[in-house]
Amino acid sequence: MTDKTGWWRSAAIYQVYIRSFADGNGDGVGDLAGVRARLDHLADLGIDAIWFTPWYPSPMDDGGYDVADFRDIEPLFGTLAEAEALIAEAHAREIRVIIDIVPNHCSDEHRWFQAALEAGPGSPERQRFWFRPGRGPDGSEPPNNWKSRFGGSAWTRVPDGEWYLHLYSSRQPDFNWDNPEIRTEFEDVLRFWFDRGVDGFRIDVADGLVKDPHLPDVDDGDETPFSDQEGLHEIYRSWRKIADSYGGERVLVGEMWLADASRAARYLRRDELHSAFNFDFLVCPWDSARFRDVITRTLRAHDEVGAPAAWVLSNHDVTRHVTRYGRQEDTGFSFANRLHELPVDRELGTRRARAAALLTLALPGGLYVYQGEELGLWEVLDIPDELRQDPVWARTNGTDPGRDGCRVPIPWSGDEPPFGFGSGGAWLPQPAEWKAYTAEAEAADPASMLSLYREGLRLRRTLPAGELEWLSPGDGVLAFRTGPGFTFALNFSATPVPLPPGELLLASGPVDGELPTDTAVWLRS
Ligand code: NOJ
Repeated sequence: MTDKTGWWRSAAIYQVYIRSFADGNGDGVGDLAGVRARLDHLADLGIDAIWFTPWYPSPMDDGGYDVADFRDIEPLFGTLAEAEALIAEAHAREIRVIIDIVPNHCSDEHRWFQAALEAGPGSPERQRFWFRPGRGPDGSEPPNNWKSRFGGSAWTRVPDGEWYLHLYSSRQPDFNWDNPEIRTEFEDVLRFWFDRGVDGFRIDVADGLVKDPHLPDVDDGDETPFSDQEGLHEIYRSWRKIADSYGGERVLVGEMWLADASRAARYLRRDELHSAFNFDFLVCPWDSARFRDVITRTLRAHDEVGAPAAWVLSNHDVTRHVTRYGRQEDTGFSFANRLHELPVDRELGTRRARAAALLTLALPGGLYVYQGEELGLWEVLDIPDELRQDPVWARTNGTDPGRDGCRVPIPWSGDEPPFGFGSGGAWLPQPAEWKAYTAEAEAADPASMLSLYREGLRLRRTLPAGELEWLSPGDGVLAFRTGPGFTFALNFSATPVPLPPGELLLASGPVDGELPTDTAVWLRS
């Protein structure tokens, strides 16, 4: 490994959702053997690091975010020895490895939750979670009115009459971070994986670990008692000390959906997390002024604390952006309302996704690429109901289709499903049209999304790393420089505009003297 100082400040990090990436043993589910066999795809793409979504033993109620044991590998995915081999093989290709840690909750099958159920009310075992008596004369109503983010109440009752808190599915009990045992446990888990060579952690629900111990009722939409509580900073300071005690710049990346960029930036002070995902950028509607505003606010908030921004267009929780950008009415994303009934113009979405890719790759800071985004995959909207697995689907009684549509297994090669995903089918059905979107087909086509990402990631390394300076070439055109000799421009307006001056380095679509609608260019100027 090269020890490039501050590697994480500008890293391009590729998100692998293991069960949908590549299947090495033919059981229809992606695994570590599959990833190991496909590492060259990632090396050829030109990314700096991989982020693996949870690989721990799990009943898979929430795709692995329901962890039964934080110190082992899910048998469907492989073994600890294979994980260690994978880390070494990635490192040999100069690719760093970040893994997910899920400190807000565990699986109901975790030994601590099982012990808590058995030990009963008032026991130290129950103190590791949020067990409370119910309200109402017979305690048959939940202790407060908090809602699960997956729908329904955030509380479930156990046979002895107590209730436990779960901000997600009822199979994901929340840990009580006021209990020092939880703190010690997770510090030890961090060391366990750092000792095995991982380069960092993506922290799930990073804003949610600490709860207001009074567990007050909330008004609809108010997350104050369970998000962005002051006590979190102390936890991350202790985690940062652990990360810094290892060599090679191990990093901590927070998953935080905070509305206020300055509040989010407080977690990125020098002795806390290294970076956090920028979800304002992800949800930004297709509009030049809105993008300019989000980018400006993000950079300003990050500058205040000396942290790099981390740009994201898609992940395993949101509608794929080809589909989002293909919806004329609203390209935004809402967790509760997935806008799945709006018509989608995929050609439009793809054109915009290509332009958005060049924007993301040109911005100062780091970025994430969600598996399949580099192939231009779209949200699969017609998954048969009986195959849906996301708990969101069941907990909302089908009003929200959930996130399965962005988790469909990746097409690698060939003309028919499972398109080289593995020899034993795929756990969610792939569209027949993905024949033209396999990694193999796209590698052979210079006009493909894959070729654009490869070229963009390669050229990005040569761009000047200066401060962003806005240009104003006209209404509806987003343009900036990031140092001497480099200009970016994206035309959001409905008509072509003159190309800014400079030599064309890369374009997201055909340009012929003019910059067409929904097209982005990189220029040497
Ligand atoms: C965020 C993860 O990205 C998502 O997939 C998961 O369901 C929730 N956190 C709960 O762990």
